[in-house]
Amino acid sequence: MTIQKTYNWAILGCGKIAKRFATDLQLLPNAKLYGAASRDLSKAENFASELNFEKAFGSYEEMIADPAVDIIYIATPHSHHLEHSLLCLKAKKAVLCEKAFAINTKEVEQMIQASKENNTFLMEAFWTRFNPSFLKVLDIIKSKELGALQHVKCDFKFFATFDEHHRIFNKNLGGGSLLDIGIYPVFTALMTLGVPDEITIDVELGKTGIDENIEMLFKYKNGNSANLASGFKCNAFNDSEFYFTEGSVRISRELQVPLRIGKKGKFTEIHCEHGKGLGYQNEAAHVMDCLDQGLTESPMLPLSFSLDLIKTLDRIRKLANIEYPNHDL
Ligand SMILES: NC(=O)c1ccc[n+]([C@@H]2O[C@H](COP(=O)([O-])OP(=O)(O)OC[C@H]3O[C@@H](n4cnc5c(N)ncnc54)[C@H](OP(=O)(O)O)[C@@H]3O)[C@@H](O)[C@H]2O)c1
Repeated sequence: MTIQKTYNWAILGCGKIAKRFATDLQLLPNAKLYGAASRDLSKAENFASELNFEKAFGSYEEMIADPAVDIIYIATPHSHHLEHSLLCLKAKKAVLCEKAFAINTKEVEQMIQASKENNTFLMEAFWTRFNPSFLKVLDIIKSKELGALQHVKCDFKFFATFDEHHRIFNKNLGGGSLLDIGIYPVFTALMTLGVPDEITIDVELGKTGIDENIEMLFKYKNGNSANLASGFKCNAFNDSEFYFTEGSVRISRELQVPLRIGKKGKFTEIHCEHGKGLGYQNEAAHVMDCLDQGLTESPMLPLSFSLDLIKTLDRIRKLANIEYPNHDL
């Protein structure tokens, strides 16, 4: 595709993922690293100088008010995604907002409404949707070369030392494994098998009331199923496996690990081209492609999908009794 425009990107919240995302943004010729905004000006200045952003802002509002800003990447905790995306959308800034898109369905609905009312682009920053290995899996499902997909097995677990103040253990910041990392297995099942008819779960709530481990079983009326899990108590391989009537496929979260296909007792490996980045450059490039076409939502990751995703997370949270103050289901 020919490049039509260079876009001025700004970062809202200079935390851990913002740094990784901005590193990948540097790879895109049509992305200009324009602004970094933090609640603390010196933090924004350090971030901007380390990652070569042109301007640093000591408040989110100041950055949003800058007419030169085209696209804002929201990288605050999920508890703040609604508030921050509404600020951006009302100022008619295109928004790429980290997952989980918000804490619950009501909040995501408000974000979608603001996008429509302001005729302004909004997309959930779900980088795995644009991961070449995952795209290959979607191709295999569509081509039926391994027959029909019947089962998905996917987990995301890492060991985290308990710290009640850290975002992932803190209820006030939307902590818990489901919204932080369990969202990836749930996303994978929804993208490949669809919204489940029945969900059963087994959850372990920790000292701060957040889910430290959750196992989920999705069942579908057509007999399909998915085994999904997330947690902070141990390290898993974090692979996704797809079982078909005539074979199976395994992909890893690690970009350098090849996709593995098994068919009739034979195994082959496919190296998907991931390019130089950490994987975030693909979602950022897609946002700019959408804006080049004058779109206000992504055809690859439509807002209706993000709504299905948060509705499914709400169903799981109800079963697991995971509650967040000020964010009722
Ligand atoms: N796509 C991925 O691979 C990926 C990976 C990790 C995390 N994430 C998502 O990205 C978001 C941020 O995660 P993170 O790990 O980067 O978190 P983090 O390191 O804690 O950064 C979050 C940033 O949000 C800002 N913030 C605004 N209000 C805050 C508050 N009340 N408390 C704490 N921070 C506040 C802070 O920036 P300032 O101080 O600069 O204002 C902070 O640095 C989460 O939604 C998470 O799910 C995505």
